This record gives sequence, structure tokens and C-alpha cells, in this order.
Amino acid sequence: MTIITGRAKIAAVLGWPIQHSRSPLLHNFWLDRYQIDGAYIPLAVKPEDLRKVIQGMVAAGFKGCNVTIPHKEAAYLCCDRVDEAAKKMQSVNTLWFEPDGTICGTSTDGLGFVASLLDQEVSLKRCKVLILGAGGAARSVVTALSDVGAVITITNRTSSKAKQLINDLDIKANQLNWEDWPNSLEQFDLLVNTTSLGMEGKEDFAFDLTYAHPKLVVTDIVYVPRVTPLLKAAQDKGLKTVEGLGMLLHQARLGFEKWFGVNPTVDQELTEYVASSL
Ligand code: ATR
Repeated sequence: MTIITGRAKIAAVLGWPIQHSRSPLLHNFWLDRYQIDGAYIPLAVKPEDLRKVIQGMVAAGFKGCNVTIPHKEAAYLCCDRVDEAAKKMQSVNTLWFEPDGTICGTSTDGLGFVASLLDQEVSLKRCKVLILGAGGAARSVVTALSDVGAVITITNRTSSKAKQLINDLDIKANQLNWEDWPNSLEQFDLLVNTTSLGMEGKEDFAFDLTYAHPKLVVTDIVYVPRVTPLLKAAQDKGLKTVEGLGMLLHQARLGFEKWFGVNPTVDQELTEYVASSL
């Protein structure tokens, strides 16, 4: 049993809605594993209340927080200090409060994504990557992949958004027509789905992997369901897959270290514990 004393370090995750967040589960798992006197709580925060809630947390002595949909861009504007990753994304998912009240922020989604691939021994330098999608999630993934030297191609249903993403991030990347990607698959080493296609509750989408190279690695940032339609299609073809849950677990590490002072490990026990809630 976790004991919380008057000296407990407190952090939170802010979202609207928040009840689907798995972050409390995973941070409290780590708090228990490392026997830390602390707690991590979910807070349902309406968009119009975000700034006053963050300021209230600083006043109440919270160590910091995660922010999730729809707060990532608005929280960026609440920070006093942000790093390069956050500036590039114009959004944050992790905030920590200095003892003098300074609100610091960064975006760890991209790093979490790269760490989850490295965990599965996927080598990324000069790796030819095809990214499906050009939304907020694609921005984190593309930024991090570009930083580790991957060769990036982006395809999106709305091609103007892919163009915009490449311009905004100021990175070198190719573009492919959405209709053409299945036939061009052979030239890629890694396929990343950042769209909401295949997410639980959305209509089914048939991913066509006919032309995949046998060494193609396939990953999805969607993690509900754990085996998405894309991962299922890849597994049926005998391709290596990396599930999206790893990104969720790895993106959480930096915040935990900032708030609670321990750099936590992502391992099988944690993965299975969080996966059992999906
Ligand atoms: P997030 O911030 O989670 O990435 P988003 O910004 O809404 O969410 O982006 C969703 C992505 O899924 C976009 O790339 C979107 O394509 P469009 O830019 O053309 O809208 C993609 N997407 C969603 N539904 C899709 C569908 N039915 N077919 C193809 N792409 C789809």
C-alpha cells in the first residue's frame, strides 16, 4: 500500500475529458515501485480554466503536471520557460515548477516515440521512414525522427497539411500522395501511422501492405486497441511491429524524473500492467 504523508510530492495530468487517461496508472505504478512518498492525480480541466488551474497548482506546491488533449498548445502559452522541442512544436505535454514558481515546459512525445523504437532495436539513422498523417502527433514524431537522422517521407489525406508541417518544422522531408503510398511501400524501412485510422470506435480502415519489403517495421501511435488494424495487417504478413503503448510509457519518464527525482524504467512488468487496463 502506498502511504502519502504531509511531505508527499504531488503531480497531475490535466485533460478534458480525463477519465480515459492511463497516465495516473503508470505514474502511480512507478511511485509504488520506487517507494516514493508522492501521488499523481487526474484533473478534468475545462479549456477556459487551464491557466488558473496551472497557477493554482504552482501556488499549492505541486511539482508539475502533464497536459493532454485539448490543452497542449494552450499550456505552451502558460509556460515561463520552454526548451527547443516545445518551441518547435508550439506545444507542451510536460510541465514542472521551479521552487521560485517558474513554470517550465517541454514536449516529450517525440522522444518517447524514438525511445520506444530504440527499445525494440529499430535503428533510425538513415532509416527510410514513411509517416501517415500530418496532425499534432505527426509533428512530434517527425521532429524527433529528423533529429536522429531518419530520412522522412510524409503522406496525408490533405496534402496541404503535410506541406505546412514540413514548412513549419523547417525540416528536410519528401511528400507522397495519399492515394500512392501503398504502391510505394517497397522503398521504406519503417512505416508509422500517426492518423486516427484504426483507433477503437472509429470506422475500420483496410491498410494495404501488399508491397511491403519483408524487413519493413510497422508502428502505430494508437494504442487502443493494443493491436491496431495496421499492426494486425503487418503481423499477418510476418512483419516486425512496434506497438504504440511504448511511446506512452517512454514519454512519461522525463516528467516523473523532474517531479519525483528518479529516472524510471520501462519494462515488461509495467507494459503488461498498463496494457491490462486497455
Ligand atoms: P492528432 O493531433 O492526434 O494528430 P489531428 O490533428 O486531428 O490529430 O490529425 C489527425 C490525422 O489523421 C490527420 O493527418 C488526418 O488527416 P487530414 O489532415 O486529412 O484530416 C488523419 N485522418 C483522420 N481521419 C482520416 C481518414 N478517414 N483518412 C485519412 N486520414 C485521416
